[in-house]
Amino acid sequence: MKLLVVGSGGREHAIIRKLKENPSVTEIFVLPGNGGMRKDAACVNIGAKDIDKITDFAVKNGIDYAVVAPDDPLVLGAVDALEAAGIPCFGPVKRAAIIEGSKVFSKELMKKYGIPTAKYETFSDIKSALEYIETAPIPTVIKADGLALGKGVIIAQTKDEAREAVISMMRDKKFGESGSRIVIEEFLTGPEVSVLSFTDGKTVVPMVSSMDHKRALDGDRGLNTGGMGTVAPNPYYTADIAKRCMEEIFLPTVRAMAKENRTFKGCLYFGLMLTSDGPKVIEYNCRFGDPETQVVLPLLKTDLLTVMKAVTEERLADINVEFYGGHAACVIMASKGYPASYEKGYEIKIPEKTEPYVYVAGAKFADGKLFTDGGRVLGVTAKGNTLKEALDLAYERVGTVRFENAFYRRDIGARALAAGNGED
Ligand code: AMP
Ligand code: GLY
Repeated sequence: MKLLVVGSGGREHAIIRKLKENPSVTEIFVLPGNGGMRKDAACVNIGAKDIDKITDFAVKNGIDYAVVAPDDPLVLGAVDALEAAGIPCFGPVKRAAIIEGSKVFSKELMKKYGIPTAKYETFSDIKSALEYIETAPIPTVIKADGLALGKGVIIAQTKDEAREAVISMMRDKKFGESGSRIVIEEFLTGPEVSVLSFTDGKTVVPMVSSMDHKRALDGDRGLNTGGMGTVAPNPYYTADIAKRCMEEIFLPTVRAMAKENRTFKGCLYFGLMLTSDGPKVIEYNCRFGDPETQVVLPLLKTDLLTVMKAVTEERLADINVEFYGGHAACVIMASKGYPASYEKGYEIKIPEKTEPYVYVAGAKFADGKLFTDGGRVLGVTAKGNTLKEALDLAYERVGTVRFENAFYRRDIGARALAAGNGED
């Protein structure tokens, strides 16, 4: 089988490695991929948003199955285009990807179907948004409606900050058209849990839970990033909470989407907050999370391609999806300065014995060498029987990877370890 994967980050690398485990896979093309993936897939210089070229490539190269991983092409309709060209795909169609593409849509869906989430108001004119701020409780959360590279969420600690956020989104168009409409919502507190799930629009199979570390610096300080590390499973996500989430959130969401004639097939990501009032949805993503995927997929026991095809063919209920019982950890090695400005072009050295555990995100291959080429450069992973074992091994492997200006958090999993020991 010839496969095509759209995307270029660590998440895509993890997906490709897992797909390769299936013996029927003969070739994997990644569009555009990055130089760090060259041993696992053939990188093709076509951008992830270039839907016409992606479809054209897939048809000309006789692709048997495609996986569209990032949010942008999904929201733009890449799956619709590939399917129209006769290529079976993993990922939601455009009508369903709106669950991530529009926060206004997702909030209205949750309200209509009684799915627990933060209370909110939506605004499309700046005057009413600013008026509302005057009466809103502080802190308050301001979100741009559309995709904003994970940066369209501002938690305002004062009314001034809230006003500034509204003005930057609605008047100054800091996130472009994404901020033409905004959501202002209640600030929630509690541990956060990421739950990725497979769904074919009828059945939902949650994957092992995970915990992201979004802030740039140790102790959850510094700027918000795309994610500096992950651990799985998430110790806060107990069996009781999982049951409650299935009944109150996962199944109701999938059923609501089907009822709205927006059947969701693919990976539906639930960003949850475990509040004192029960689990609530912070956000939906229409795709695998990054770097959650780098800890979740290594724990998947069942063949990934088999599960993906069952999703596409709407027979997820017929297969058994199993995970290993252990733990996994991923530490992101970034370029110093990320997520603000940083330098790139430094040579990366990864010892052969570490390589199978490294998922490369921002690198390019030139003159027989690998060079840094992005903010998040790579993720170093490990599995273990305990979280501590997984973390120790991941950090040991981090110590073997070398590039100038490398930066990583030293406390990935620290909070999870404490919680697992009943200390939090
Ligand atoms: P998002 O891009 O929607 O994942 O939001 C980024 C981060 O902002 C989340 O991971 C949360 O930590 C935080 N956040 C978003 N919405 C809320 C909320 N209503 N209350 C508290 N924190 C929030
Ligand atoms: N790690 C969060 C995300 O993928 O959106």
